[in-house]
Amino acid sequence: MITYEFSSKERSLKEIATLATLSNGFISVRGDPEVSKSEFGTFVSGVYCYTPIFYRELVNLPRITPIYLTIDGEPFRPINGETIIKLDTLNGIVYYESILESSIGKLKYESSRIVHKTFKGIFAEEFRFRPINFAGRVCIRLPIELSVSNKSVPPQVHVKLFKIVESDSSNDSYLHVRTEDEVYDVYFKMFAESNDLQLRPYSDENEIGFLGCIDVDPNQAIKVAKKVIVAKEKSTLNKYSEIAKEKTYQELLETHTTAWQKEWKQIGLVIEGDIDFARYLYFNTFHLLQMYDDESDVFLLPARGLHGYGYRGHVFWDADIYSLPFYLFFKPSAAKAMLKYRCKCLQAAKEYATKSNFKGARFPWESADDGYEATPRIVPLDLTGSKTVLIETGELEQHITADVAYAVDLYYTFTGDEQFMEECGLKIVFETARFWSSRVKYDQEKNAYVIEDVIGPDEYHVHVNNNFYTNLLAKHNLELGVKYFELSRQKNNWRKIAEGLTSEEEVQNWRRISQKIYLPCLTNGICEEFEGYLQLPDFKIPEGCIGEKCLPEKIRENIPKTRLIKQADVLAGMFLLKEKFTKEIIEQNFDYYFPRTTHASSLSLPMYAAVLAYLGRTEESFKLLKLAASADLGNLYGNVEDGFHVGSAAGVWTAILFGLAGIHIKNEKPTLDPKKISNVKMAFNVTIKGQNVRVEL
Ligand code: BGC
Repeated sequence: MITYEFSSKERSLKEIATLATLSNGFISVRGDPEVSKSEFGTFVSGVYCYTPIFYRELVNLPRITPIYLTIDGEPFRPINGETIIKLDTLNGIVYYESILESSIGKLKYESSRIVHKTFKGIFAEEFRFRPINFAGRVCIRLPIELSVSNKSVPPQVHVKLFKIVESDSSNDSYLHVRTEDEVYDVYFKMFAESNDLQLRPYSDENEIGFLGCIDVDPNQAIKVAKKVIVAKEKSTLNKYSEIAKEKTYQELLETHTTAWQKEWKQIGLVIEGDIDFARYLYFNTFHLLQMYDDESDVFLLPARGLHGYGYRGHVFWDADIYSLPFYLFFKPSAAKAMLKYRCKCLQAAKEYATKSNFKGARFPWESADDGYEATPRIVPLDLTGSKTVLIETGELEQHITADVAYAVDLYYTFTGDEQFMEECGLKIVFETARFWSSRVKYDQEKNAYVIEDVIGPDEYHVHVNNNFYTNLLAKHNLELGVKYFELSRQKNNWRKIAEGLTSEEEVQNWRRISQKIYLPCLTNGICEEFEGYLQLPDFKIPEGCIGEKCLPEKIRENIPKTRLIKQADVLAGMFLLKEKFTKEIIEQNFDYYFPRTTHASSLSLPMYAAVLAYLGRTEESFKLLKLAASADLGNLYGNVEDGFHVGSAAGVWTAILFGLAGIHIKNEKPTLDPKKISNVKMAFNVTIKGQNVRVEL
C-alpha cells in the first residue's frame, strides 16, 4: 500500500490539508501542519448548526492539533517551502517534517498523528525535535484553540457556531462546548505525555491545554505526545479518557495500525500494471473507508466528506447514487447506515412534500442533520450584498427523491435485508412513489404524464420540462412502488406494513402513471435531455477539455443557451436503468452527449467511464476512469482545498463494480461479467448477499 508525499513546494498547504485529512467517520482533522496557525479546527460527524444563507452547516469546532514551540517568547516557524507531509494509507498515519527556525536558531521537527480507527473519540499525535545549531530554553505549548469559526460568504465574513459552556485546566484540560443553536454538546479532554519534560495544564481566553519548558543542547532529542478525546456524550468522553490515559502513544498507534491493516486485508485490493492508477485508487479508497463510523447507526455522508467546507457539509444525490455502491459491496453496514440517514429524514421529507403542495415524501436537494432543505437560495458575492447568485437547485432539482428510492432498491437487491425494508425501506419506496404520482401532470396532447419545471443532473439548463433523467427515475420510482407492493403480498411481515402504508387502488394508479410517463426519445434513438434541448445552438467541446476553462469566452458566457451539458444526465439514467435500453441505444446516446459534456461536475467522468465499460469499450473506459480517479491527487477540478470529492471517488468504484466487474442480477441472482483491461490487473473482495466474493479483472 502506498505512502503519499506532499510538499509545500508543489502544492498549497490548503490543498495538502484536504489530501492529508484523517478521520474515523466520527472526528475529522485536516492535514494542516500543527506548528502553524490555521482557520480549520475539528469536524465531528453530524454536528451542524443553524447559519445564515446555508441553513445548517458543519461546525468548525475547536482546533485540537496545534503544537507551538518558542524560545524567549519567540515562535519557531517552518522555513517557507520546506514542509513535507506524508500520508500512510496502509496504517492511517500522517507524518509531518520540517525545519523550524527562530532568530536564535533552527531545529529539526518531526511528528506523526492518528485519528484512532477503533477508539472513535481519540486523536493522538507525537512529535520530536532536535536543535540543529543552538542551545537554549525551548517552551512547548499544546493547546486546543477556541478561536476558530466558520467562514461564510463573502469569505471576509466569519460566524462562530459554538460557545464555551465550561473549561477547566485545574487538573487535565477539559472543555465543554455547545453549538450556538444549542442542539449539540461536544466535550474535549487532553493529556500530554513525555519522559523528557513536565507539562502542566493552562488556559487563557483563546486556548486551553498544556505547557512546559526545557533547556536543550544541539542535537538533543525531545519527544512529547498529545492525546485529545472528543465526544458528544460525557460517558463516551470518560470511556475514551480512561483508554487514552492508560495507553501510551505507541500503544494507541499499534491498535490503530492493526485495525487499518485488517481493513485493507479484508478488502484485498490488488492493482498491477498501472502504478498511477493504483496510486489514485488506493488513495481514494482510503478516504472513502475513513468516512464511515461503524459505531453510528446513521451515516451522513457530505459531498466533500469531513475534509473541508465545500458545500457546507451538505448531503446530495452523490450519496445515494454515486457513493452507495462502494459501501454496499465493501461495507454493507455502511450502506445501510446511509439509508438510515434518509429514514431519519423521512418525516422532514413528508413535510417538504406537503409544504410544496405535493403528496408523499420529497427529499431535499441538499440536506444536513435535520433533513430539511438546506440548499442556499441567494448567495451574496460581496459585503454589501449588491451582487448575488441565485441558486434554484433546491426548488427544482427534484430527481433526488427518486434517487433515494433507487438506492433503497439497490440495497435490498444486493443484501436481501428484509429487516431494513420492514423498518423503513418500504416506507421510503411508497412515500416517494406517492410524491411522483402527485408531481406528474397529464398532458392531453401527448397522452402522457409530464414533469414540468425542473433541473436535471445537467444543472446548466434550469426550468426545463421533461428532463430525461428525472422522468426516467420518477417512472422507476413508481414502478418500485408497484414492485414492492406486489412483493409484500408474498411475505407475511411485509403485507401488513404495506397495507398500512398504501392500498391496491393507489398502487394501480402508480402502475397506470408509470406506464405513461413521457420520455423524450426520438425515432432516431437519441433521447432529448429535455424538451427543446435539440433546438438549442450546438457546440462540441475541444477534446480532452475538463471543465469550462477551455471553452471560448463567448460560449462560456452563454452555456445555458447551448447544447453543452455539465455532466452525465441522459447517460446517467440509461446506465442506472440499463435493462430498459438496448446497448445500441445507449451507445448512440453516449456518442451524442459525451462530446457535448464539460464534466464541470466531478460526478461526470466516472459515470461516462461506467457506461463505456458496460458497452465493452474497456480501453476508453479505463482511460476515463484513470482520469476520474485522479480528481483529488491531480486537483483536476482546481478546488481540492474545499474538500475530498467523495461522490467522484466512489463513482470510480461504481464504474469498476457495475462497469468493469459487470455486477448485475441475472435470473434473480447476483452475477459477474468481468472485463479485461490490457496490461492492468485488479482484484478485490466484495460482499454480496452476505457472501464474500473475490473479483478478478
Ligand atoms: C453537481 C451535482 C452534485 C453537487 C455536489 C454539483 O456541481 O452538479 O450533481 O450533486 O455538485 O457534488
